[in-house]
Amino acid sequence: MCGIVAYIGYREACPIIIKGLKRLEYRGYDSAGVALLNGSLNVYKKKGKVTELEDFIKDKNVHSTIGIGHTRWATHGEPNDVNAHPHYSSSKGLAIIHNGIIENYASLKTDLQMRGHKFLSETDSEVFIHFIEDIQKHNQCSLEEAVRLALTKVVGAYAIVIISKENPGQLIAARKGSPLVIGIGKGEYYVASDATPIIEYTDEVVYLNDHEIAVISRSNLAIKNIEDVPMTPYIQKLDMELDSIEKSGYDHFMLKEIMEQPKSITDCMRGRVISQKAHLNLGGIQQYANKLVNAERIIIVACGTSWHAGLVAEYLFEDLARIPVEVEYASEFRYRNPVIKEGDVVIAISQSGETADTLAAIELAKSKGAIIFGVCNVVGSSIARASHEGAYLHAGPEIGVASTKAFTAQVTVLAIMATIVGHRKGNITESKYRELLVDLENIPGKVEKALQLNDKIKEIGNIFKDARNFLYLGRGYNFPVALEGALKLKEISYIHAEGYPAAEMKHGPIALIDEQMPVVFIATKDNSYEKIISNIQEVRARKGRVIAVVTEGEELITKMAEFVIEVPSTNEVLMPLISVIPLQLLSYHIAVMRGCNVDQPRNLAKSVTVE
Ligand code: M6R
Repeated sequence: MCGIVAYIGYREACPIIIKGLKRLEYRGYDSAGVALLNGSLNVYKKKGKVTELEDFIKDKNVHSTIGIGHTRWATHGEPNDVNAHPHYSSSKGLAIIHNGIIENYASLKTDLQMRGHKFLSETDSEVFIHFIEDIQKHNQCSLEEAVRLALTKVVGAYAIVIISKENPGQLIAARKGSPLVIGIGKGEYYVASDATPIIEYTDEVVYLNDHEIAVISRSNLAIKNIEDVPMTPYIQKLDMELDSIEKSGYDHFMLKEIMEQPKSITDCMRGRVISQKAHLNLGGIQQYANKLVNAERIIIVACGTSWHAGLVAEYLFEDLARIPVEVEYASEFRYRNPVIKEGDVVIAISQSGETADTLAAIELAKSKGAIIFGVCNVVGSSIARASHEGAYLHAGPEIGVASTKAFTAQVTVLAIMATIVGHRKGNITESKYRELLVDLENIPGKVEKALQLNDKIKEIGNIFKDARNFLYLGRGYNFPVALEGALKLKEISYIHAEGYPAAEMKHGPIALIDEQMPVVFIATKDNSYEKIISNIQEVRARKGRVIAVVTEGEELITKMAEFVIEVPSTNEVLMPLISVIPLQLLSYHIAVMRGCNVDQPRNLAKSVTVE
């Protein structure tokens, strides 16, 4: 949600910032802007994508070796030039870029207005920078101290970078609840919302922690906490290839990420699953492993696609480990009065590791004594750090807003977790355990085979691209896959789609079925196979158009459905890893054919760091 890039050093700042903002456009793309210092402090900003900002500044004097830039996903105020970041302070001596929300901005604004401040935008961020300048003026203190004092008074989440005319050799950055990473070069520093704008310049980074303030000059990085106590920067090596954040010949990141799933699932299992040695291990779950094994129940919190992975985990843990599971939307959980007991186990699933609702749900559960296991993709992310233990996905950066390879990696990690727990509890026989390990190892090859259906799926997509509604139906392990298929379609093609447990259809959605309605059945051979055949008949009887994802060699459904997509068979508990692939491809092709911006769907942002 909003991307931040800043640079201080000896190179031209503007091209570095613009390139970085393009890498962060997955975080927001309503408007973009830069502030550069070259004698004066100049802010240039434009509604729309970063390329529009680029056009706007091409004949301006943007020479500078220090600057800040922002790509926005609107929270306060509509997307337009004025609400775009950076925002000036009252004197225009300071400018800020901000990711997050200042919850008490309205009272701060009223107070500042009563003291003569005039605001141009409707944003909380402009209030923030006026507030900082106001504090500096009244306390006659350094900018650093004014920032610190302001941060003790604001309520909400922020990642900020401030540039100042009076301090031309300095950037000030701070975070609470929104990510910020500082890249360390020689005589130069980079600041960004994630490492993707930094990776081509340096692999040494410092992840700023909540309540920390960084004062960055060309030759020094000093970090203090909000109590003014100096902190020692913890320098980490980035484990990221430049290629992993580029399209590498694909038209869209989403397609690249769909296609690289055999690799991302392999990477996710590397060193964790070795069937020959009957070895299954998650290195990040050690100290608290017994809590998981002995849990009386597990609560899973997540949002969106990660929530769907959580639903698959519910089936996995109940089947393999015989532990009851509750899967909660983090956004609801945090505002209920959930019953959490000391020692309860919570699994938080998040690709970005920054989703505000999931983070808040974790904090709530932690405050009641729960043990938190994080399942995240982004290393060093807030959720990973807020968890007691956990496992990374190792799926590589996911840039397309629609989550694809993160889902399959999440399900892989959760399947490993449930198998370990089931095995340790003695619920899984030795032979079933060994069989599952082999099945896991065979998944990447089967995903590869499912991906070879791409051309066929594209043809089906072409037939249904103008549909106004879609229904996705599945049972058992394929029910969460139905939900995921529907979410993928609606978020990138803007076609209304609903996912349902197939048997629930007759309790309502069946009324929607007519000869126009495409109904995607995920009907692979499993425990509910016979039952789902009846559901297909029910749709056919009402002239619905059936597209069925079935297991290779399927005969019965092939005779009933208008289109069948045959995927390789696997152990039922791992089927979502395969059956989701055609649905990802179907939504991708439909969205492309409808002319939608697949990687940056309207209104959406990759990482939702606000409530
Ligand atoms: O980063 P997270 O996994 O916590 O994100 C959760 C959701 O915002 C995310 O899965 C969202 O639903 C995706 N756009 C789905 O494709």
